[in-house]
Amino acid sequence: MQKRELLYEGKAKKLYLTDDENLVISEFKDDLTAFNGEKKSSEAGKGALNNKISTELFKLLEASGIKTHFVKMLDDNHMLHKKVDVILIEVIVRNVATGSLSRNLGIKEGTILPFTLVEFDYKNDALGDPKLNDQHALILGLVKYQDELDKLRRMAREINDILHPYFATKGLNLIDFKLEFGKDRDGNIILVDEISPDNCRFWDSVSGEKMDKDRFRQGLGGLKVAYEEVLNRILGK
Ligand code: CDP
Repeated sequence: MQKRELLYEGKAKKLYLTDDENLVISEFKDDLTAFNGEKKSSEAGKGALNNKISTELFKLLEASGIKTHFVKMLDDNHMLHKKVDVILIEVIVRNVATGSLSRNLGIKEGTILPFTLVEFDYKNDALGDPKLNDQHALILGLVKYQDELDKLRRMAREINDILHPYFATKGLNLIDFKLEFGKDRDGNIILVDEISPDNCRFWDSVSGEKMDKDRFRQGLGGLKVAYEEVLNRILGK
């Protein structure tokens, strides 16, 4: 499958049309951004690591009954997937308090939440991805019906119920992550985007070491080594 016209360039991926109107190709970039694009850098090989990690996780989720946009990995930096209408809601799933949850609500970093928290952010860079409640999402027309919001929450919890124990077997604590969803041509809500250390937080189960994009956000260094370690643990190496 060949790349055709560039459809869209995001912060971490470029999206290309293909000869099949139902399929598109994502190119995973080495660019790194944080704080809504204010901090920028690049790390050679990061895109390929995220493509490989996402591929493994999409396969795992599909095998566990979650519908996703994934079709196949084409090469190191390219993934073939279904074309969808992206729902402009970032679904944030949290098992442990850190980041903006700790900052905004004063919950001590590292606190295990009494239950998994699922939150919605408006996917809108110009507005800085503000928090949404259900009424906001409906007023903005991001989805049509309350049922669809309920479905996003349900799918996010199902995905966490698969990924959290899976990563525990790999010696990684899945602290929190962001999911995106879209509607396929039949109107089904499916998981899209990527699942990688760019949009998940992983802490080593033993040392507590951060193995994700916080290494870049917090200037800790060693980003590529951490992403490689996440991939190797997934692959059982
Ligand atoms: O990074 P920050 O603390 O500002 O955001 P957060 O809301 O605490 O992030 C929760 C989780 O969602 C983290 O795993 C982030 O990597 C991820 N996230 C993301 O991938 N993209 C966003 N625009 C916001 C959060």
